[in-house]
Amino acid sequence: EKGTYPHYMLKEIDEQPAVLRKIVQHYQDAHGNLAVDQEIVAQMLQADRIYIVACGTSSHAGWVGKQLLETLTHIPVEVHLSSEFGYNPPLLTEKPFFIFLSQSGETADSRQVLVQVKEWGYPTLTITNVQGSTLSREADYTMLLHAGPEIAVASTKAYTAQIAVLAVLAEVVGKSKGLPLTVDMQHELGIVANGMEMMIDDKEKIEQLASEFLAVSRNAFYIGRGLDYYASMEAALKLKEISYIQTEGFAAGELKHGTIALIEEGTPVIGMITQENVAGHTRGNIQEVASRGGHVMVIAMDGLNEAGDDFILPKTHPLLTTLNAMIPAQLLSYYASLHRGNDVDKPRNLAKSVTVE
Ligand code: M6R
Repeated sequence: EKGTYPHYMLKEIDEQPAVLRKIVQHYQDAHGNLAVDQEIVAQMLQADRIYIVACGTSSHAGWVGKQLLETLTHIPVEVHLSSEFGYNPPLLTEKPFFIFLSQSGETADSRQVLVQVKEWGYPTLTITNVQGSTLSREADYTMLLHAGPEIAVASTKAYTAQIAVLAVLAEVVGKSKGLPLTVDMQHELGIVANGMEMMIDDKEKIEQLASEFLAVSRNAFYIGRGLDYYASMEAALKLKEISYIQTEGFAAGELKHGTIALIEEGTPVIGMITQENVAGHTRGNIQEVASRGGHVMVIAMDGLNEAGDDFILPKTHPLLTTLNAMIPAQLLSYYASLHRGNDVDKPRNLAKSVTVE
């Protein structure tokens, strides 16, 4: 039930810090150390490549998962859209391991790939929010998101939960490989949860920005590099599906190769800056957009921020910053949708789980 909340989406956004804490609690052994089903870990240790297969928001969580898994486990990862993989499968390596990401566990495009992969005989893991869902029953292994029911069509807490579970998985597999880079994931996810709370408290400011800059625009952009690019893709989907503003999430450096032609006086462009190694470059791209009349908003991590930035994210581990960056992005889309008079929880033409191919 949504209780005193006007919409499920707002409730689900607010639940995210609690969900992260629950995930940390759930994936622990009796000694309080992070733990994942040993069989999953053993299968992943044998794999020469991980294939993440998903749709929509779950695929965007998959891109962040790729970065987490490659950094912490040194196993190469490919991310594929289910609807593409189904009919044009990539050339597979000898020992692939498949991860299906699906909030509902019922997405037909993903299920179709799972059935195929099982026929080929490869090991499969479903990461889902719904115990007993089709993708969970049919895969060899399941990891649950523990996010509680997600009702709003626009996925919010499932995205951050998927990333948190992938972070736990990456850390546990990396550690059992004895790799030098380890992250105290329990501690770091706790810091993220606290940071999320701070961002969630900023609702008034976010609503104000949404009503000023997103109330009438026809198109918008999110830009970033690396993890900020992956976050931009998700932020853009969130904004477009409920506000109906045509929004693209773009690799900041790629704009000048064509898309910058679309920037006009007042076009909203939201820059994401959480990664130190590319912060300067993204700043440069934001400058280029601003000088062409774009209305720029910046979401930057503390330490990488500059005067005039709209949102300062509390410092977190660089691999986990997209979790915090998503809070203002989700809230911007919520308020943009609200101010445009749309049905926030049930946007037109969309269903919560897409059970047709
Ligand atoms: O249940 P799933 O995670 O498999 O769903 C995948 C997509 O249909 C879903 O993420 C969709 O993109 C959402 N409406 C995004 O907010």
